[in-house]
Amino acid sequence: MEYHVPVMLDECLEGLNIKKDGTYIDVTFGGGGHSRAIMNKLGAKGRLIVFDQDDDALANAIDDPRFLLVPYNFRYLHKFCRLEQALGADGIIADLGISSHQIDVRERGFSYMLGGTLDMRMNRSNPLTAAHILNHYEEKDLLILLSQYGEVRNAKRLSRAIVQRRRQAAFSTISDFIEFLSTLSIGNRNKYLSQVFQALRIEVNDEINALKEMLLDSLKVLGPGGRMVVMSYHSLEDRLVKRFFRSGNFEGEVHRDSYGNTDLPWKVITKKAIEAGKGEVASNVRARSAKLRIAEKL
Ligand SMILES: C[S@@+](CC[C@H](N)C(=O)[O-])C[C@H]1O[C@@H](n2cnc3c(N)ncnc32)[C@H](O)[C@@H]1O
Repeated sequence: MEYHVPVMLDECLEGLNIKKDGTYIDVTFGGGGHSRAIMNKLGAKGRLIVFDQDDDALANAIDDPRFLLVPYNFRYLHKFCRLEQALGADGIIADLGISSHQIDVRERGFSYMLGGTLDMRMNRSNPLTAAHILNHYEEKDLLILLSQYGEVRNAKRLSRAIVQRRRQAAFSTISDFIEFLSTLSIGNRNKYLSQVFQALRIEVNDEINALKEMLLDSLKVLGPGGRMVVMSYHSLEDRLVKRFFRSGNFEGEVHRDSYGNTDLPWKVITKKAIEAGKGEVASNVRARSAKLRIAEKL
């Protein structure tokens, strides 16, 4: 089975505006689809540094002296780029979330369709799993994550029910958890399950904080004129990216000095997010929810 089919490949490459001898960073290497296309455009002096926190992605490493794989969380973007003397980089690409490979492997526990254990870790050396959250988080913390990360409409009822149920039996398998959810689900069942699973996955992998740290680091890593290309798959992430590009902060507020001048870090290239065309969506369902935003560092 294919590891992952890269989404909006041409649009991402165009967004990066690749210079032959430039230094590029792919913070979400995965199957390396975007990375390989970047490598093909680089000349002998070009460089590509990639990040992935999932061990499975290491097998896709590209055997090329211009390529370097950093097997860590992209929240350490600046730290590693400084170590590798890659500050002043020409472009960064982030294709957020999980790969098809991670979804397809049952034991990883990302898919409510496949069953397996309640794991959901991208980095399997981290201790926090989805089962731990369900079995140990306090009701008020479950409520926060279900409502904020999953926008689950009955988060209050669900968090209370989780705490009651685990007094009788701990959660361990996805099939058991789904059965438990069957009486609590409201509206479209699949949408409800997706929202609950999304909330757990974001918490397990601390995705929102990692994204914020990486975005802040991108400003320290890119040189002037460097391109930032980000693809998100849900509105929480896309909103953060949109605001950060507009204002340099996550509230999206443009600050002005007493003369009315702004000091914006980005020139926004995509006023409106780019979405995949009909043909791509028809052949790759994952492309359906993708939103691509591009900005240039001023
Ligand atoms: C959507 S896939 C990327 C697919 C890739 N663009 C391709 O063409 O194959 C996202 C990848 O980023 C990794 N990832 C997600 N968040 C990460 C983080 N905070 N730090 C490091 N890697 C991360 C995941 O493990 C996954 O392999």
